[in-house]
Amino acid sequence: MSSWSPASWREKPAVQMPNYPDSTAVADVEAQLSGYPPLVFAGEARALTKQLAMAAEGKAFVLQGGDCAESFAEFHADNIRDTFKVLLQMTVVLMYAAGTPVVKVGRLAGQFAKPRSSDMEKQGDVELPSYRGDIVNQIEFDIAARVPDPQRMVRAYNQAASTLNLLCAFALGGFADLHKVHRWTQDFVTDSPAGQRYSELADRIDDALRFMEACGVDANTSPHVREASFFTSHEALLLPYEQSLTRQDSLTGDWYDCSAHMLWIGDRTRQPDGAHVEFLRGVGNPLGLKCGPSLDPDELIRLIDILNPDNIPGRLTLISRMGADSVGQGLPPLVRKVKQEGRSVVWSCDPMHGNTHTSGTGYKTRAVDRILAEVQGFFAVHQAEGTHVGGVHFEMTGQDVTECLGGAQEITEERLGDRYHTHCDPRLNANQSLELAFLIAESLRHRRNGVLREAAE
Ligand code: PEP
Ligand code: CO
Repeated sequence: MSSWSPASWREKPAVQMPNYPDSTAVADVEAQLSGYPPLVFAGEARALTKQLAMAAEGKAFVLQGGDCAESFAEFHADNIRDTFKVLLQMTVVLMYAAGTPVVKVGRLAGQFAKPRSSDMEKQGDVELPSYRGDIVNQIEFDIAARVPDPQRMVRAYNQAASTLNLLCAFALGGFADLHKVHRWTQDFVTDSPAGQRYSELADRIDDALRFMEACGVDANTSPHVREASFFTSHEALLLPYEQSLTRQDSLTGDWYDCSAHMLWIGDRTRQPDGAHVEFLRGVGNPLGLKCGPSLDPDELIRLIDILNPDNIPGRLTLISRMGADSVGQGLPPLVRKVKQEGRSVVWSCDPMHGNTHTSGTGYKTRAVDRILAEVQGFFAVHQAEGTHVGGVHFEMTGQDVTECLGGAQEITEERLGDRYHTHCDPRLNANQSLELAFLIAESLRHRRNGVLREAAE
């Protein structure tokens, strides 16, 4: 394979990239960002790889979640806090059921750039460049707003830095302390069925903590009770931004993309000869690869050869996003091939991106029962193939939005317009996220009981 450098992707075909009108202005921004501090440290990325290696073996479970697209307009401490709260709630639900650690990875602090199905968007007779996320251009359907502006990369960097700072403070500063498990519930969730179920679970956790304290295990002897480890991730789509934040680690000499701990390649940018695969093969971060219905098993092995030639456990997470109707057919050939070839991967399920449709009322939406059906189909495939379910990947928010259909709140097509705030795809709201965590927990409990039964035999 040819030699890699942070800029070697520039020799390859790059799809989904904005057409900046002024290349000098782009180069200026790249130079500016290259001089800024990295957002994460290589050692943290390596720590995440280790945790993901546990998930590859079924000894940990990955919860990756957050906005489809972060936006400049919704940048607020309350939004970050509320998403973090729901992720913590989902974590305890899953951890309790799986009996394994949950690796928490946010689609946060950098999830700004979006791939689009078309370069242009047409409304009536007017055609303008598509919105590609706040890091590129503005969502307003206006000719000036849609011109890609490189300065937006600097603003995204600053927002990512502040978001990360707050997340670290929450994770380490007492907010994530298991003794506060009751306080993560937001008012609008308290009285819902999922909220009540959570409250009972939180009581059990309180009891367990009291018991452990009586045994001499407390926050002083075991900091895990008080602190959470939390990692960031986003789709590495806008390569000038990613390259500008790529640094050589002084300890190992390896290159890391220091814009986030984990980076993933989208379903639309995973061409083995393309720029995105070229860029990511050279960085030491743990990587994700979205696997949609068009991915052929041989091509997947080719991609694994490029992205993880040394078969390092935890290096590669394959994020399946087949759709509820296709998962039973589409996933087994991939899982079988990877197993046959002896590749170590984390298999994660994104039940969002294969289940999007437009409602009769004109909103892009997803139904909670289709999302759940895909997760259940994913579990069934791994059960049949004798492989591990490594984790799940959600688009969700801590806010009380009405973007996905169904759930206990029974959000109907007519109600989608009430609080539809997403800048891109529809997200699960706090209640729907918690409900799904309980439903997934049931599958995890089955799996665990199966393992315990096998061990006893
Ligand atoms: C996404 O995760 O926001 C996304 C665009 O996914 P995919 O590449 O799987 O379509
Ligand atoms: Co999305």
